[in-house]
Amino acid sequence: MAPSISTIHSSPLNILDFVVNKGHGVKGLSDLGIKTLPYQYIQPSQERFDHTTNEEFNKDSIPVIDLSKWDDPKVTKAVCDAAEKWGFFQIINHGVPMHVLENVKDATHNFYELPAEEKLKYSKEQSVTNSVRFGTSFTPEVEKALEWKDYLSLFFVSDDEAASLWPPVCRNQALEYIKSSETVVKKLLKILMNGLNVKEIDKTKESILMGSKRINLNYYPKCPNPELTVGVGRHSDVSTLTILLQDDIGGLYVRNIDSMKWVHVPPVNGSLVINVGDALQIMSNGKYESVEHRVIANGNDNRISVPIFVNPRPSDVIGPLAEVIESGEKPIYKNVLYSDYVKHFFRKAHDGKATVDFAKV
Ligand code: OGA
Ligand code: NI
Repeated sequence: MAPSISTIHSSPLNILDFVVNKGHGVKGLSDLGIKTLPYQYIQPSQERFDHTTNEEFNKDSIPVIDLSKWDDPKVTKAVCDAAEKWGFFQIINHGVPMHVLENVKDATHNFYELPAEEKLKYSKEQSVTNSVRFGTSFTPEVEKALEWKDYLSLFFVSDDEAASLWPPVCRNQALEYIKSSETVVKKLLKILMNGLNVKEIDKTKESILMGSKRINLNYYPKCPNPELTVGVGRHSDVSTLTILLQDDIGGLYVRNIDSMKWVHVPPVNGSLVINVGDALQIMSNGKYESVEHRVIANGNDNRISVPIFVNPRPSDVIGPLAEVIESGEKPIYKNVLYSDYVKHFFRKAHDGKATVDFAKV
């Protein structure tokens, strides 16, 4: 039986126990109907969303690119320009069927509707594999303030592993989304590589660019006092590229490279949001930049999002690509083992763009 609100509030320790150890997540807190945000979630004022200046942020947003004629020079230029100027863009007519996107959104809701005991089987403590992880916030062990978000993270190793270990309520839908997005991922990488003078993606490059994948099913429940916390704090992704599906609630903000202003990424029906990750920033020697983004907490609605992180393989060594350096450009990043880079990211709380310093020369 779920504890009552009064037992939750009686001791600060109980919040963490309920949310983390018992597997209720912040969704469990939200479902209880708590009226005030537990103090553990109160973010320092500089990390909160400043609603008073919000209007100004919304004037300009990231490009929406129609990929139906993806090899048209106008389109390839738009993709490269967006990756350079924004590090973020949306794509439409991307070839991933709408029913695949709808199905994975439904599957995400279905996973979160499972009882806490069921979800807890996929937690760090109980999961039979490191490839499947149900959790909350980002790294509760090291965070000074928690983030108002639950997640299920699935590392794709093979179809067989996914079939036997991923939660049955969402595995087929998640797999289908990964498979159906493969073509568009390859197209985008081809375009972006051409922009770096890389004419062909051979097998070695393919491994380094997209040799592993992780899919997250994110849940941001309705929040009491959303102005005091965040859904996800400022960060850049450690991926090569991220392909993000969001529902129609909104709340993802991106920092513009020039103005440093926060810009909303409005939900566009059927679109996918693409962003450059740190691995591509490193490989492109900074030509394409991974950009800071964050998600606000919402006082009225539950929100879901489903990013696919297209990554190097953990065993790959990444650094500025030979083709980029050949022109005489000075490397600003050194070679790093990708698994070391990722470990560094997960050892700390979200801290904006700081992760990439790990690879600076
Ligand atoms: C992430 C992320 C944004 C969103 O999972 O890395 O930035 O809209 N998500 O959920
Ligand atoms: Ni992100």
